[in-house]
Amino acid sequence: MLHPHLLRKKFSQAFATNADEARIFFSPGRVCLIGEHVDYNGGMVLPAALSLGIYGVFRQTDSHVLRMKSCQQKNEVTLRLDEEISFSEKTGWGNYPAGVLKYLKQKGFQPRGGELLFDSNLPMGAGLSSSAAIEMLTALIFSSNNDNKRLGKLELARLCKTAENEFVGVRCGIMDQCAIAMGEKNHALLLDCSTLKHELVPAALGDNCIIIFNTGIKRELTKGFFNQRVSECEEALKSIRKHKPLKHLADADEQDVKELVANPIAKKRALHVVQENQRVKLAAEALKTGDINQFGLLLFQSHASLKRQYEVTGAELDTIEEAAQNHPACIGAKMSGAGFGGCAFALVKKDAAEDFVRYVLNFYFEKTHCEASYCYAEIDDGVRRIA
Ligand code: GLA
Repeated sequence: MLHPHLLRKKFSQAFATNADEARIFFSPGRVCLIGEHVDYNGGMVLPAALSLGIYGVFRQTDSHVLRMKSCQQKNEVTLRLDEEISFSEKTGWGNYPAGVLKYLKQKGFQPRGGELLFDSNLPMGAGLSSSAAIEMLTALIFSSNNDNKRLGKLELARLCKTAENEFVGVRCGIMDQCAIAMGEKNHALLLDCSTLKHELVPAALGDNCIIIFNTGIKRELTKGFFNQRVSECEEALKSIRKHKPLKHLADADEQDVKELVANPIAKKRALHVVQENQRVKLAAEALKTGDINQFGLLLFQSHASLKRQYEVTGAELDTIEEAAQNHPACIGAKMSGAGFGGCAFALVKKDAAEDFVRYVLNFYFEKTHCEASYCYAEIDDGVRRIA
């Protein structure tokens, strides 16, 4: 947790101004426990909000100009809030908050300018949802300074998804924004992505802990491969719909996919979606009944399917998962997020955690000649004001 006092100090230095009146907000990253690539196919997912995340220190002024800086980025981004906001490659990271501001304005909000500093202890672009975190943070800051308009957290999540889909151009689903909006300490969020009905399930992990490993690999082509998977799923759904009136691909059963989808690539993707959707239900049940070994087994199965059928893991994530699976203290492990680099996590017996970490890091280095980093994951509350 970054201390508000320290954040105010950084703010004063960054903008050479007084931070006494600045308000401070926090938006967590998320780990997708299970339910990968199911959200944009209308199925069930089980993510959780983390204690790591992005902080926003905001001092509002009467100006229409918003100055944004980030402790993790070089370029300052300036937006005129009284003008049309549009996407620009040059704006880089600033497009995430900019997109949210554009859609808040469309909803009738009149965001006021000022200075906004972001600081983060969440690895960026690593499958822990740094983009949804900064979007939800922006949405909360600029919707809560408005006297006569309010949006609930679910509406803010919807708005951030629109910003990501239409402004940034990634055709993501709504899992990340919802986990960040509605996550709660020590709970996983069981979310039906077609209805947005949700339930908090106690993450009763017994004498186990969650350890996240960052491969350190970032794939710049994320947007391309992600949208390609979305199209492949659409193709599968189109084939099934010729024979059956389905709303979402996740509503199909294995038989439908095997018999009605001819394209072999679309078939593999669809099989993953349908089976992963079932695994989420089983995993939530396992958590509820305290059957942690069954929960762990489902994580391994999820990773195997993401590797073989959805083909989004890549050598580095597979190496972490392989190492985890070799170690006797590991109950389950899988990649988290979109894939192709980024993070994987493992569920591990607490009393053997140190040995486990040593083993995984060595195994990874020997195989890839790269260093992975790790942290213990704590499941925490969703986006909120902290000072
Ligand atoms: C990214 C997207 C999510 C989801 C995951 C994969 O994080 O933003 O909507 O599709 O990938 O499960």
